[in-house]
Amino acid sequence: MSETRSKPLLFEKYPDLEGKIPWMKLVPTQTPVKKLTKLEDKLGINSLWVKCDDITSPLYGGNKSRKMEFIYADALNQNYKKILTAGTIGSNQCVANAIFCDQLKLKPVAVMMDQPVSTFVRDNLLLDLYYKTEFYYPINAIPKTDDFYYMVVGCSNPLGTLGYIDAAFELKNQVDNGEIPEPDYIFVPTASAGTAAGLTLGIKLAGLKTNIHAIQVSYSRDCNFRAIRRLSNRTIKYINSFGNTISDITFEHLHYNEEYYGIDYGIPTPECIEAIKILKNGEDIILEPTYSGKTFAALLGFVHKNKPNIKNKTIIFWNTFNSRDFTDIIKQVDYHDLPKELHWVFEEPLPDYRF
Ligand SMILES: Cc1ncc(COP(=O)(O)O)c(C=O)c1O
Repeated sequence: MSETRSKPLLFEKYPDLEGKIPWMKLVPTQTPVKKLTKLEDKLGINSLWVKCDDITSPLYGGNKSRKMEFIYADALNQNYKKILTAGTIGSNQCVANAIFCDQLKLKPVAVMMDQPVSTFVRDNLLLDLYYKTEFYYPINAIPKTDDFYYMVVGCSNPLGTLGYIDAAFELKNQVDNGEIPEPDYIFVPTASAGTAAGLTLGIKLAGLKTNIHAIQVSYSRDCNFRAIRRLSNRTIKYINSFGNTISDITFEHLHYNEEYYGIDYGIPTPECIEAIKILKNGEDIILEPTYSGKTFAALLGFVHKNKPNIKNKTIIFWNTFNSRDFTDIIKQVDYHDLPKELHWVFEEPLPDYRF
């Protein structure tokens, strides 16, 4: 059952925060948890689930919407009309910003850097264009004005991280309602750290015993265990600045895993390609190769290594990738209308990954 949301569960648990922390609704209902029964049979385990954050918003699913509920509210409170964010040329964050700005009558601005090209990258650039993004590329072409609200990379500041504390409270609700057993493990990708930091903190604040397996999908300089811990701690301080007294947490339940990253951001490993195929053929769930594919590969690796001991444990794959279909929109857009510096993305051959 997907319960309607009227305000974040965070505000129910900490009523002092309501009215002080900016928030607006972008995620209309709790996202479902679904049991992956066909895959359980194949893998010989009994309690494998997906948390469907691929459908967080009817406009655009994935993990951004939960964080953006707080970020746009902050921008609108300050009367900004332009929202600038930064990411790679295939950034889901830039697409999410473009789509929500369209809805909120704001202007999306994107500062972009390179990444390996794929169909996902091309499609995202076409969506950015369709939703009227103002592009700054290459990265040194930063706008000269300061009339924009800066939405940090991945929305991973303490304000955005609240979105995934709230997601952990939502999961706790689903456990309490008997929709899913108390999870033993959550597998989630980590890049700018907000998703993993929010869940790591939220799981503790919700009183769940769950272990978080944060799977590295981006450069280790910024993406590492310390980054998640630091952001969790900054978020505690931020919440406490409103007069609450949340105690510091310990991090023994956070497991950082860099084994499935491979050679670079956005380059799929053979395990990632195999994992994408397994989920598509087994459960008809579509993943992508940069974040969710590598994370599901890590989950499969964990199951294979630990099967006798985890047969009856509850494992959640947290799906952070949008599953709304934009095929019809993408067909209407011509890459020649992008700034000419970006045309190479559509003119060089695509790698031949077979998912
Ligand atoms: C689909 C998807 N999953 C996971 C992530 C990583 O989330 P975070 O940046 O909060 O670590 C991203 C971030 O760009 C993403 O687009």
